[in-house]
Amino acid sequence: MDSSKRSHWSSRWAFILVTVGSAVGLGNIWKFPFMTGTNGGSAFVLVYLACVVGIGVPLLMAEAMLGRRGQGDPVDAMRSLAREAGASRLWLAIGYIGIVGALLILSFYSVVAGWILEYTVRAVGGFRGMDKAMLGEVFAGLLADPLRLVAWHTVFMALSAGVVLGGVTAGIERANKIMMPGLFAILLVLLGYGAVAADLPAAFRFLFHFEPKAIDAQVVLAAMGHAFFTLSLGMGAIMTYGSYLGREISIARTSLVVATADTLVALLAGLAIFSFVFAQGLEPAAGPGLILQTLPLAFSTMPFGDVVGLLFFVLVVFAAWTSSISLIEPATAYLVEHFSLGRRAAVLLVSLLVWLLGVAVALSFNDWSGFKVFGLGLFDLLDTLTSKIMMPLAGLLIALFTARVMQRAHVESEIGLGGRAFGLWYGVLRYVSPVAIVLIFLNVIGVIG
Ligand code: PHE
Repeated sequence: MDSSKRSHWSSRWAFILVTVGSAVGLGNIWKFPFMTGTNGGSAFVLVYLACVVGIGVPLLMAEAMLGRRGQGDPVDAMRSLAREAGASRLWLAIGYIGIVGALLILSFYSVVAGWILEYTVRAVGGFRGMDKAMLGEVFAGLLADPLRLVAWHTVFMALSAGVVLGGVTAGIERANKIMMPGLFAILLVLLGYGAVAADLPAAFRFLFHFEPKAIDAQVVLAAMGHAFFTLSLGMGAIMTYGSYLGREISIARTSLVVATADTLVALLAGLAIFSFVFAQGLEPAAGPGLILQTLPLAFSTMPFGDVVGLLFFVLVVFAAWTSSISLIEPATAYLVEHFSLGRRAAVLLVSLLVWLLGVAVALSFNDWSGFKVFGLGLFDLLDTLTSKIMMPLAGLLIALFTARVMQRAHVESEIGLGGRAFGLWYGVLRYVSPVAIVLIFLNVIGVIG
C-alpha cells in the first residue's frame, strides 16, 4: 500500500510522546487509584503489573506493528494485512471492535473528564474551609445536575475535537509536546510534596506490601482489564498511531519505553495520591469519587493545599486530553481514508456521535438512573463492556493474528527484535497471552475454579 501520502510523526520521540500521551490518562490518575483502593491495594497492583508485563507489553508491540505494516486506519490496515497473509476477512473484526470500542470509551471518558474540568475551576478558588460533608455534597450535586454534566462534557469534547482537527503533526503531536512535559513536571512536584509533607511510607505500604488474601477471579479480571485500558490496547488507538510511524524506528524499543512510562506514572501518581489520603486519615476505598471527594479534603487542610490542588487537577486535564484525542483519531482516520470524507467533517461526525452517547451517560447519573442492563447503569455498563470484554477480546485476536496468521518472516522484519528476544515475544503471543486471556475469562464466568 502506498504509504507516502500518509502523515508521519516527525521523530521517534514524537511517537513515544504521543503514545505515552494516549496511554497516560484518566486510567492512571483516576481509575488506577480508585480500583486499587477498592480491590485490596497491593494485591491488585501485583496482578496489574503481571498483566502489563505478560500480556500488555507484548500486545502493545504487536498492535503498533500491525498499524505500521498495515499502513491504514484500523479497518483498512487489517484488510491489507489479512490479504497479505491470505487470511479471512473476519480478521477485520479487530479493526471494527477497536473503532467502536474507542467511541464507547470516549463517551464516558469525556463525562469523567468533565468532572475534572469542574474541579479544576473550583481548585482555582481553593478548597479551604470545606469539610467532608461539604465535599460529598459538591460531588453528589454535580452528579445530580444533568445540565452541568452535559455542559462540561461538551467543553471537553470540543477541546479534544479541536486538537484532532489540526491533524496528525500540527494537532496531535503539537498538543502532546506541550502537555506531556507539563504533566511530568507537575507529577514530580506533587510527589516531592507528598514525600515531604504527607505520608509517603503509608502509601508505599498500601501499594506494595503484598498480602495475597484479596486476590480472587474478579480482582484478576479487573486488573487485566485495567492493564488493557491503561496501555490503550485493542481500541485502534495504538494501531492508528503506529500507522503514522516511520519505517526506520524500532517498534519493540519504543513500546518498552511507552509501557514503562505509563506504569511509572500510575505508580507515582498512586503514591502521591495515597500519601495525601493517608496523611489525612481518609478512606482509600472511596470508589470513583476518590480523587474528587477525598483528595480535595486533603488539599483543604494541607500547607500550600491551594496550589497543590490546582496543579493536581491541571495534571489530570492534560492526561485526559492527550488520551481522548487518541480515542477520536481511529474513527476519524477510518472515515477519511475509507469514505474519503474531509478531516473536518470526519472529526465533527465522530465527535457528535460520541457527544450524544455521552449525554446519555451524563443522564444515567440522574434523570435516567433507573435504566439498568444486567443490573449496571450505563456508565458501569460501558466501562465493563469495553475494559472487561472488548479490549481483552481484541487483544486475544491481535495475539492470534500476529503469531498464528501472519507470516513469521513478515512479523520478524517489522518488529525490530533480534534472535532470542524475538523468539520470546513471539512465543508469548502464540501461547501465553491467548491462554492467559481465555483462562481469566473462563475463570470469571465460573467455568473453571
Ligand atoms: N489509556 C487511556 C487511559 O489510561 C485510556 C485509553 C484507552 C486511551 C484506550 C485510548 C484507547 O486513560
